[in-house]
Order: sequence, then C-alpha cells, then structure tokens
Amino acid sequence: MGFYFLSYPGMGLNVSEILAEVARKYSQPEEVEEMNRLFSEKSGLITPEQTLLGLYFPYPCRVLDIGCGVGREAIALAKQGYRVTGIDIAKPLVVAARRNAITENARINFQETDGLYIDMPEKSFDLVVIFSQTIEHVPTRSARITLLREARRVLVPNGFLFISAHDRYHPTMSALRSVFEIINDSGAEEGDVYLKNIQGIASAGKAFMHYSTPSEMRSELADAGFNVWQFARHTDLGGDAGMDRLFYMVCSSQSLESTL
Ligand SMILES: C[S@@+](CC[C@H](N)C(=O)[O-])C[C@H]1O[C@@H](n2cnc3c(N)ncnc32)[C@H](O)[C@@H]1O
Repeated sequence: MGFYFLSYPGMGLNVSEILAEVARKYSQPEEVEEMNRLFSEKSGLITPEQTLLGLYFPYPCRVLDIGCGVGREAIALAKQGYRVTGIDIAKPLVVAARRNAITENARINFQETDGLYIDMPEKSFDLVVIFSQTIEHVPTRSARITLLREARRVLVPNGFLFISAHDRYHPTMSALRSVFEIINDSGAEEGDVYLKNIQGIASAGKAFMHYSTPSEMRSELADAGFNVWQFARHTDLGGDAGMDRLFYMVCSSQSLESTL
C-alpha cells in the first residue's frame, strides 16, 4: 500500500509514518470487531448526517465516502439509492466493509486508498463525505489541505463536501480526556493528541488525532478551494446534546467568482 512510502517534505511531523500508525491501529482484529459490532447495532447515518443529505441531496447522486470504515454511512447511502464509493487506509476495514455490503445487499465500490492520494479521475463525484473523526487522523495543516484538495479535485465543479469534526474547545470534550494524551513533539500543532483507545476498547498502539476548531477548519477548507455554505453544531441538525462537540460544514467546490 502506497501510503507507507510517501514522503511529505517540509513538515514537522512525519505524515506517512503517522498515517501508517493510524492504519495499523484500526487494522487490529479487536478494532475491526468493535467497528463491526457498532455497525450491526446502530447501522446507518446519524441524524445530523441524514439531515444534511435531505437538505442538499434529496435525490440519488454519486458519493465518495473518505474514511468509510466498515461501511456505516456508505451502506446506508447505497440503500437510499446513492451510487457510493468508499475508501479507507485500513485494509481489514475495507475487507469488512465489502462483507457488510454483501450481507446488506448493497452495491458499493470499496477501495483501500489513502485520502491524500485518491487514484480516481477528477470530476467523478457530486458529493464527498468525510464524517466521524476521519480528517482528525491526518497530521499537519498542510496534509489536511492536501486531502481536502483531493476531495475537491474528484468533485464536479458545483459539487459539495460534507465534513464533520470535533471542536477542541467544546465543554463536552472533557468526556474524552481519559483516552488521549497531548503530543509535545516538535512540529506538533495545538490540538494534536494520541488516542490510546479509538473505539471504546483498548488495543495496542496509538492513533494520531488533531482536534480542530471551526475557524481552523474554515481556513483549511478555504486554502483547499472550498466555500463554506453552512456551519452547524450537532444539535442544530437534530443530534443529541452529549455529542455537541461535533460540528459540520457544508462546502461547495464552486469558485466564488462563478457564483456571482
Ligand atoms: C472513526 S473512523 C470512522 C469510520 C466511518 N466513517 C464511520 O463513521 O463508521 C475513521 C476512519 O478514517 C480512516 N482514515 C484515517 N485516515 C485516513 C486517510 N488518510 N485516508 C482514508 N481513510 C482514513 C480510518 O482508517 C478509519 O476507518
């Protein structure tokens, strides 16, 4: 898999090493099993994701799901008639997603791919979704912008991106304190942590996370060429108050000039 060998010159943290570590953590059998358990228990889109879909794409379109895991949102989308491609850097998750799709009778193209290097033609999708702590696993502002630019490249000119992330200053973040340690390495950015436990279970190793803020995310999206159409907190979109640390942005790949 390519991401082990990619180099990202000029960055403080070693992006390829950190992403390989994230992939290794998610590839452990306990993690895959836990994601499969969550999938079978509460499969489907959560209320805020479904709300956004209903507002912007209440009709079938071509969707790319970056960080698809075992297929939670990809399978739910396919069952609603969307034409879905799901990508993830952790191969065992992609294998599990393919199995889950067969069980659920959903036709989806799942691929083991790093979101920073999407081997797909430009203008292939109407909608890209990056949900549920995926962008957070990408270290450095610069690499996150690379991933967002890839999302923009594969979108049609008037396509949309839905992205969700944790707000590091939200009061409900205190609920996570026991599962992460702050990174003090040189080159680390504010909000960088190592998660010891990513799916509610303790497996070996650690996973990088960058807890962002809405203004940081806006700036990264702008540098990737996106315009933010809507910002919403989890509860604004019908989500439960305990998870209000999640925020959502709806972005258009259309250039500002072409909307004037
Ligand atoms: C918290 S899980 C979310 C999975 C799924 N979206 C869900 O909600 O069930 C984050 C996922 O992002 C994937 N991921 C992290 N960095 C990635 C990257 N650079 N490219 C593709 N997938 C990535 C991880 O392997 C993991 O499956």
